[in-house]
Amino acid sequence: MNIELPSGKEEISIKLHEAEEIREKIIQNSYLKCLEVGLAYGMSANYILSSSEKVTLVSIDPFQENDYNNLGLQNISNNGFSHRHEHISELSITAFPELIKSGDKYDFIFIDGDHKFEGAFIDFIFSTYLINNGGMIVFDDLWMRALRLVREYVNKNRPDFKEVEFSSDNIFGFKKVSDDYRDGMYFREFYTRKGFLKYHINRLAWENDTLTGKLLKKLKSTIKNR
Ligand SMILES: C[S@@+](CC[C@H](N)C(=O)[O-])C[C@H]1O[C@@H](n2cnc3c(N)ncnc32)[C@H](O)[C@@H]1O
Repeated sequence: MNIELPSGKEEISIKLHEAEEIREKIIQNSYLKCLEVGLAYGMSANYILSSSEKVTLVSIDPFQENDYNNLGLQNISNNGFSHRHEHISELSITAFPELIKSGDKYDFIFIDGDHKFEGAFIDFIFSTYLINNGGMIVFDDLWMRALRLVREYVNKNRPDFKEVEFSSDNIFGFKKVSDDYRDGMYFREFYTRKGFLKYHINRLAWENDTLTGKLLKKLKSTIKNR
């Protein structure tokens, strides 16, 4: 597959092993109708579309022309996938209600657009109205605290979704396993101090740029190699 990425912009796209794992999940589950928020240079889109000749993809991203010079669309075209792809050049917040009104449903939704907590959270909530039973909603960037909180919310508050295992540690996702039977007062606390502390301790160790960070990194690798 041919995906052109401008040099110095590689970080914007999902990693190759993540793209391959997403494709694997689509193949394993025989998913056909896919939706993505966040096209950028089309890395995830091309991998989704390459999973089968029957797969279709709708992508949502209003910045394709201005910020990406339409390179995501060009990459899809270069790989011969355009006839199975539709692009909606809008913010997800306006695109989702139209899709919901249309009555269309999807087997697989990849959320990789606005990474603020409310952005990813709203994309998930809208996606719950579009996903088929047995379908999957997947996110990138679990390294971000905002995305960790979205994951906690789903695990604690959405018994109709079950977390799916991924070997890539930066992606996570959920399968729709039942209808939503919660009553209107349902709420489970999803912020925990433990989650907050764990995240910030790990972060000090990754960033490794303070003495505490360096010590924590060393301690973590000693424990891991025991
Ligand atoms: C990290 S990039 C996506 C990378 C892409 N999934 C890939 O693997 O190549 C995030 C994308 O989300 C888009 N985006 C940001 N906010 C958005 C929003 N509110 N609605 C739709 N797309 C959005 C940006 O224009 C950008 O293209």
